[in-house]
Amino acid sequence: MKPQIHTGGDFGMTAASLLVAGIEAITQSRGRCRLGLSGGSTPRAILVRLRALLPPSAYGRLAVTWVDERHLPVEHDADPSWYGHHADSNFRLAYECWLARLPRPPSVVLPMSTGLTLEADLARYTRGFADGFDSGLDVVLLGCGSDGHVASLFPGAETLDAKEPVLAITDSPKLPPERLTVTLPVINRAAVVVLAAAGTSKAGVLARALAGDTALPLARVKATAAYHWVLDNAAAAQLREG
Ligand code: 6PG
Repeated sequence: MKPQIHTGGDFGMTAASLLVAGIEAITQSRGRCRLGLSGGSTPRAILVRLRALLPPSAYGRLAVTWVDERHLPVEHDADPSWYGHHADSNFRLAYECWLARLPRPPSVVLPMSTGLTLEADLARYTRGFADGFDSGLDVVLLGCGSDGHVASLFPGAETLDAKEPVLAITDSPKLPPERLTVTLPVINRAAVVVLAAAGTSKAGVLARALAGDTALPLARVKATAAYHWVLDNAAAAQLREG
């Protein structure tokens, strides 16, 4: 499935609007929406828009989790609890930008890493993802690395061929090394995938992926209903040349 490519304009607003449209359409058709978020730096400009764009009525049927998470220490006596998560965690990023100050929280928020051992968090999350999400997602916000990784699925890794829904890794080329990640079957079964990328460093892998270079995890991503790339001009530069 070739992505619909959106460039120029307000990057954060475009990506957030596509997420909200997906959430509302899925909630309308399926009765609820299971949303998977990415971390890193790109989502900031997107998540901060969601508070204004997503109607309060949507939160009662919204289940939020992540497509990957860095496995980092958690301080369990923090108030609010999300504040106990490490400053580099994708969970804390979503709270800082969106989830912390809402009139009402989403019906479900399932963190991937809670400060247990990696193995214990994998078992806990796998169970929670099955129980609360049927081990699936409906709408996904993805980023991509300059090496073409998505979530914590890296080029050349055996994890790219995994069939199980969730994996723990201990050798992430992007630090920190210990992470939890959903796998490609979970991402590719989503109805709506919004991939957001900004900056010159992503331009090469985006062009390679669009040309079908399946050595890149990015090139293996698809969606069952709508697949969007939201790119700033720098990230789209080589696509224009092509
Ligand atoms: C993570 C992310 C990761 C991210 C890409 C892009 O935990 O780091 O989930 O997959 O989406 O590495 O990161 P940037 O948005 O910082 O470029």
